[in-house]
Amino acid sequence: MEKLVSLCKRRGFVFQSSEIYGGLNGCWDYGPLGVELLRNIKDQWWQTMTYREDVEGIDAAILMHPRVWEASGHVENFTDPMVDCKECKARFRADQIEDSPCGSPAYKGRKAHKCQSEGKFTEARQFNLMFKTFVGPVEDEGAVVYLRPETAQGIFVNFLNVQSASRQKPPFGIAQIGKAFRNEINTKNFLFRTREFEQMEMQFFVKPGTDEQWFQYWKSQRLDWYIGLGMTKEKLQYHQHEPDKLAHYAKEAFDIEYLFPFGWGEIEGIHNRTDFDLSRHEQFSGKSMKFFDDQTKEKFTPFIIETSAGASRSFMAFLVDAYKEEEAPTADGKMEVRTVMKFHRRLAPVKAAVFPLVNRDGMPDIARKLETDLRQSFRVFYDDSGAVGRRYRRQDEVGTPYCLTVDSQTLQDHTITVRDRDSMLQERIAIDQAAAYLSEKLAT
Ligand code: GAP
Repeated sequence: MEKLVSLCKRRGFVFQSSEIYGGLNGCWDYGPLGVELLRNIKDQWWQTMTYREDVEGIDAAILMHPRVWEASGHVENFTDPMVDCKECKARFRADQIEDSPCGSPAYKGRKAHKCQSEGKFTEARQFNLMFKTFVGPVEDEGAVVYLRPETAQGIFVNFLNVQSASRQKPPFGIAQIGKAFRNEINTKNFLFRTREFEQMEMQFFVKPGTDEQWFQYWKSQRLDWYIGLGMTKEKLQYHQHEPDKLAHYAKEAFDIEYLFPFGWGEIEGIHNRTDFDLSRHEQFSGKSMKFFDDQTKEKFTPFIIETSAGASRSFMAFLVDAYKEEEAPTADGKMEVRTVMKFHRRLAPVKAAVFPLVNRDGMPDIARKLETDLRQSFRVFYDDSGAVGRRYRRQDEVGTPYCLTVDSQTLQDHTITVRDRDSMLQERIAIDQAAAYLSEKLAT
């Protein structure tokens, strides 16, 4: 993890938020390469989930009517038990004391459970994870709104709007990507548990009685999505929630977990939310949330199958999974260790790098023209500094799948070399075929 975090900063994937002020705990900024990778993950998700007949997309507001969060159960139930250390004033999640370090610099290396056993902790109190703020100029109770802790509620309250506007009938889904906020007591493990993060959620509305079958369908679709984008199959698993551990809305729940360096961690949840959400919104708003089928004259409250992925957590899992250190030959035939990010081609932040072999004989002009042409369709990078072997290594480290080099042969026959990131093999192609070559390779 340390190597990865350092690479992320050095190469511009992720920076600490407000770093020059000492950082803000649980918040991270995506740098030039990180934002591309994150966008590519979200684009892949959006394409898979919404470029189908039975799913529509929306983008709901982050701030919602406060009654939404009463209906959803978040005001009452979205809490973690919290304890304070009376001595050093550090705050802990009562259920995570085992792995937490003691908050006092005076006890370096000590675990918090030792302080607990010495009676230094307060009784556990429930702490609501929603961030509160105010709408308008008066900061009183009547003006309180929350930063949404999940994107799902924006979908539930728009169920009938989307259904009638798009003339869909259950079974159909609504998908959304957006920021969510949780005032986590303990943030940890880089991007894994943060206070501001992004979710990619899809709620699939089905006729009661068909929910089991749709649950199974989405459970396998979602696991396949990660595998299809190159994530190591053996590092993915399902984790079923025990009945006594289910969230207040769920009848059945499975997590998709990834094996991070610190152990298995959830990257997505698949939940059978029953008719809980629509019934509660009906009850709290006084507006019917039932679906009426004109043809069959049936009226019912749909059950909801939810697929809830973290964009930021998936980002971290894709980063961890891509990171490889392997032996590679240098230009003079020796072996060295190269760091290579083996991103799936569709996720790679930069698709191709263009190099002139040397900065003379007209090679830079040809390479610049190639770069300009490719830029119309692809995110490319131009590099003319240092030995070509070093340039390959720099691109390996950020996961660029192809390096295109203009060399002396280009001057004679208008061909260039294409070097493949993973095999490190090179082939020659016609320079005017470079865009078609990349299109074909990147589509797979
Ligand atoms: N709508 C259901 C829901 O929000 P969840 O299991 O609480 O379910 C879904 O969250 C996903 O959101 C998680 O699998 C994870 O990927 C992501 N997520 C949740 N809390 C997070 C946090 N504090 N930091 C980063 N990602 C988080």
